[in-house]
Order: sequence, then structure tokens, then C-alpha cells
Amino acid sequence: MPAIGVFDSGVGGLTVLNALRARWPGEHFIYLADTARLPYGSKSLHTISQYVEQCIAFLRNYDLKAVVVACNSASTALLERPMKSDVPIFNVVEPGARKAVEVSSGKRIGVLGTRATVFSEAYVRAIHRLQADTEVFQQPCPLFVPLVEEGWLDDPVTNLIVYRYVSAVVRNNIDTLIMGCTHYPALRAAIAKAAGPEIQLVDSAHGLIEDLTRIQPLEAKGGGKTQILCTDFSPRLEETIRLLLGPTPIDSLETVDI
Ligand code: DGL
Repeated sequence: MPAIGVFDSGVGGLTVLNALRARWPGEHFIYLADTARLPYGSKSLHTISQYVEQCIAFLRNYDLKAVVVACNSASTALLERPMKSDVPIFNVVEPGARKAVEVSSGKRIGVLGTRATVFSEAYVRAIHRLQADTEVFQQPCPLFVPLVEEGWLDDPVTNLIVYRYVSAVVRNNIDTLIMGCTHYPALRAAIAKAAGPEIQLVDSAHGLIEDLTRIQPLEAKGGGKTQILCTDFSPRLEETIRLLLGPTPIDSLETVDI
């Protein structure tokens, strides 16, 4: 049975993989973490586009029914430079923007993201395409990715850093906040605490599930498989992967050269 390829620069896309697996436990997922070149979010869109093309081309060596680009920085690059492909390629920016517009009550949306995502303004454009009179306030959070890669999800240092970035965007009276990097849902508890109970948090994985459902019927009954591939391996990486994936078994964990 063809698999669903999922890719991110590191472990952040596992937050997306978790959501997809919970929805379709019978599917076979192949997750590629480009850990040798992480982070993407501090690089230029030109460089990120090259990485995205290489990662998708590598995943296409497997029998796939879809590719999910579970990285906002990579999705941003893909939206700027779309790729031709005979299997559908899904990004996480458009579904995140759509969900935010759906839940926003006051048309004031905040976006947390990497520098690449924020400077590309991909969310601003995607939100304005759906609802032109929405005000969008962006905040780059370059320290979040290393905290997640380190597995510091619940730590006083993490709470302090999260508070500093989140309070800077909440100051704009936003009603909705997009976690515009797939690493950030791993910090959801800290982000929610810093944002306060009035602000709706948006995880693009939810919109992505709707997009996948629209395109193809997927296997909702159990028995699926999870294969993890990474371009650089360390025991620490494996610990963080297991921390983020929780109790679900990993069928294989391999290092690959793309
Ligand atoms: N998970 C990636 C994203 O959604 C960011 C990680 C990185 O900077 O490589 O943008």
C-alpha cells in the first residue's frame, strides 16, 4: 500500500505526524527529518527551496500517495516556488491561515514563526486572500526550535523565552494566534499560558487533516506503520523523537543520505 511521506527539517513535523496518525492509524507514514541541515528557518528562501526539492525527490524513491511538507519554512518556500509532482503535495501554511480566519472573532491574528516564514509574509498573504480586512501581526521566535530539538518542553527557561516572544505579539490585541512553525505545538502549554485564555491557538495540522480528507480516502482503522528517516542521527535525537511521539511504536529509525 502506498505510504504518506511527511517531512520537516527536524522533529517539529512529528507534531503533524501525531495528528495524522491519530486520525488515520491504518496508514503507513514515512517521516523524513533533515536534521543534518536543521534549522531551515534562519536560511534564505532560495536555500530552503533547494532543500525542499531534494527532500521531496528523495521521498519519491518510496511508493507514496501524498507528500506532506510538515514545516512552515519549507511550505513557504514551496508556495514561492511550486514543484511539479504526480502525487499531491500538501503545505501547512494555507490550512493554518484558513483555520485562523475561521476561528478569529475580531479579525486580529498573530503569527509566531521562524524568521524565514515571517519575512516571507506567506501567512499575511494567505490570510488576506481569504479575508482582506484582517490585521496580521507577526513575531519571529528563533529560539523556539532549539528548545524543542533539545526536548525542553516544560522548563522554566522555556517558559521565560516563550513569554517574551508571545507577549510581544499579544500586545496588539489579537484574538487568534497561529503556531506558524510545526515545532511550536510541542510548546503549546507554555504558549497558551503566555497568551492567556482569551486567545485561540491555531495548529495548522487540523486544517491539513481537512485538506487530506478532501483529496483522498485514507485508512482510519489501525495496523499502520511508522518509518522515521533522518539525515543526521544522535542518541539525543532519538530521545527527543520518542518524547514527541509518545507511546506509539516506531517501526524503523534509519539514517539516510539524500
Ligand atoms: N519546523 C520548521 C517550521 O515549521 C522550522 C524548523 C527550522 O527552523 O528548521 O518552520
